[in-house]
Amino acid sequence: MKFFIDTANLEEIQEANDLGVLDGVTTNPSLCAKVGVRDFEGHIKKICDIVEGDVSAEVVSTTYNEMIEEGMKIAKIADNVVVKIPLIKDGIRAIKTFSDQGIKTNCTLCFSSTQALIAAKAGATYISPFIGRLDDISTDGMQLIEDIVDIYENYCFPTEVLAASIRHPMHVVACAKAGADVGTMPLNVIMGMLNHPLTDSGLTKFLADWDALQASFKS
Ligand code: G3P
Repeated sequence: MKFFIDTANLEEIQEANDLGVLDGVTTNPSLCAKVGVRDFEGHIKKICDIVEGDVSAEVVSTTYNEMIEEGMKIAKIADNVVVKIPLIKDGIRAIKTFSDQGIKTNCTLCFSSTQALIAAKAGATYISPFIGRLDDISTDGMQLIEDIVDIYENYCFPTEVLAASIRHPMHVVACAKAGADVGTMPLNVIMGMLNHPLTDSGLTKFLADWDALQASFKS
């Protein structure tokens, strides 16, 4: 399972990358707004320089011709950039065009299996189903991940299931059990996966016992 960080914050990306387990980055217009990105292409380039893996940068146009023009500019930013495109009619057409040209795409804002099936047929590199936002409206986000993984396996679609809108570590566990190819998550979720109170108390006890042993030799 690949781990992506879901942020446009350069410090957070660096911190996650330093951990040595980061496989990529996803951004979106809201995340760019959160950190006040002014120079979009320059900012995405900085992210692509920090991380070796795929970095998704999203178009903000909604018509086919504009998406192609905008996506082409994004695709030229770096070798590891992925053009992120919303799951709308013109977006699917744009994904097909980019796919035919060998340009990687991440089809975002997926909330149903039918959407995911069409995105795979268009040749999306990644499909991004949003777990947390489905949970928010009393729908089972994880069930969607399981369904898409099953459907893609049935037909050997190469599109990778990139579970998005992950809100907590147990979402990651459920995604891993369901066979999602990628989980994209905020830094606090990545770091939260590390934590266990028995690790902390166990380490405290190990170190205290070691110190007591050393002290016993001196007395
Ligand atoms: O990658 C999509 C993600 O940023 C959405 O997360 O928490 O805003 O639903 P959230």
